[in-house]
Amino acid sequence: MSAPKKAPKDFFEIRLRSVATEIPLPFDLFLVVNGKPVLFRRRTDVITEDRMKLLVRHGGEKFLVPESQRIPYMKSIKDVIANPSTPTDIKSRFIKESAFVHVHDLFTKEDLSPVISETKSLVEEMVSFVSTDVEAITSLMRLSVHDYYTYNHCVDVAVYSIALAKKILGEDKKLLLLAGLGGLLHDIGKRKLNWDLINKSSPLTQLEWEEIKRHPLYGKESLEKIEAIPVDAKLAVVEHHENFDGTGYPYGLKEEQISRLSRIVTIADVFDALTTDRSYHKAVGPQEALGTMYSMQPGKFDPMIFQSFNKNFAKKGPLKLTADFDPCQPQSLDRFKVG
Ligand SMILES: [Fe+2]
Ligand SMILES: [Fe+2]
Repeated sequence: MSAPKKAPKDFFEIRLRSVATEIPLPFDLFLVVNGKPVLFRRRTDVITEDRMKLLVRHGGEKFLVPESQRIPYMKSIKDVIANPSTPTDIKSRFIKESAFVHVHDLFTKEDLSPVISETKSLVEEMVSFVSTDVEAITSLMRLSVHDYYTYNHCVDVAVYSIALAKKILGEDKKLLLLAGLGGLLHDIGKRKLNWDLINKSSPLTQLEWEEIKRHPLYGKESLEKIEAIPVDAKLAVVEHHENFDGTGYPYGLKEEQISRLSRIVTIADVFDALTTDRSYHKAVGPQEALGTMYSMQPGKFDPMIFQSFNKNFAKKGPLKLTADFDPCQPQSLDRFKVG
C-alpha cells in the first residue's frame, strides 16, 4: 500500500460503500480527476444500488466529500446504523465504513484531539451494536477484507478486541469501549513511520527493524497529552508488542506487568496480521493462523486469554495440540513482521 494520501484541502475521503443508496444524498460527492476534485453527484441526487455496485466493481470506490459537509455525511451513517429496520449486515458495513474514515483521519490529521472525540463516539456505537445484536460480531468479522491493510487492520483489531473482551470480561460496556479504543488506536504510532518502510517487501535491515519497533513508543507520544483517551487504551498502544514471557518490546514487560487489555489486543493484532494480505506475505485462513499462533506458545500470549480466543474464534472448533497435530513450522514474529 502506498502512503495514505491526504485529501485535497477542504475535502475528506470516503468509500462509496458508505453512501446510502436509493435515497437523496445529504452531501455532494466529488471524484479526483487529474489531481483535482470534480463534482460527481450533487446533494439530493440519488445513487441506485445497481449503480453503486457497478462503480465499486470498476474500482470507482474512493470519493471526496467537502469538509464543510462532514456533519451531514456522518449523520447519514448514524441514521442508517440507528434505524431499527436496517439489516445487521448493512449496519455492520456502515459501522466499518465510518471507522475507515476515522482511521484515515487518525493517520493523516496533524491535530488528533478533535478526531479522538469522534473516534470515541464511533467505538461507543460499535459496542452498543455488538451488545444489542447477537449476530453483530459475526457480521462485522465476516466483513473483514484483505486489502487497504493499515486502515482495515485497525478496524478489525478493534472488532476482534471487543469480541474477545466480551468473552473474557463480560458485558460491561465501559470495558468493551476500552477494548475497542485500544484496538482501533494500537498502531497509531505508525503515523510517524515512513510508509515505504512499513510496506517494504524485502528483508529489513537491522536499523529499519529498530525503527519499526519504535511505533508503540511513537503511539504513546502521540496520545499522551490527549486526556480524553483513557489510560487503559493508551497502555494497549504502548504494550501491544510485549510478550507474556517478557521477550517483547519496547519494555520487555511480562505476565501481569502487561495490562489485561493489552494482552487481549496483542492476540487480536497477531490474528488479524496473519489473516490479512500484506506486502511481504499472503493471508492465511483462520485455522492456519491459529496453528501459527500455537507455534508461538508458550511465550507470546497470555495462555488463558489465548485459550478463550481459540475456543471461541476457531471456525472448525478449537485447535488442539495432539500427537497427530502438525503445527506450522516454528515461525518467528520477526519473519511475519506482525504489526
Ligand atoms: Fe497492528
Ligand atoms: Fe503494532
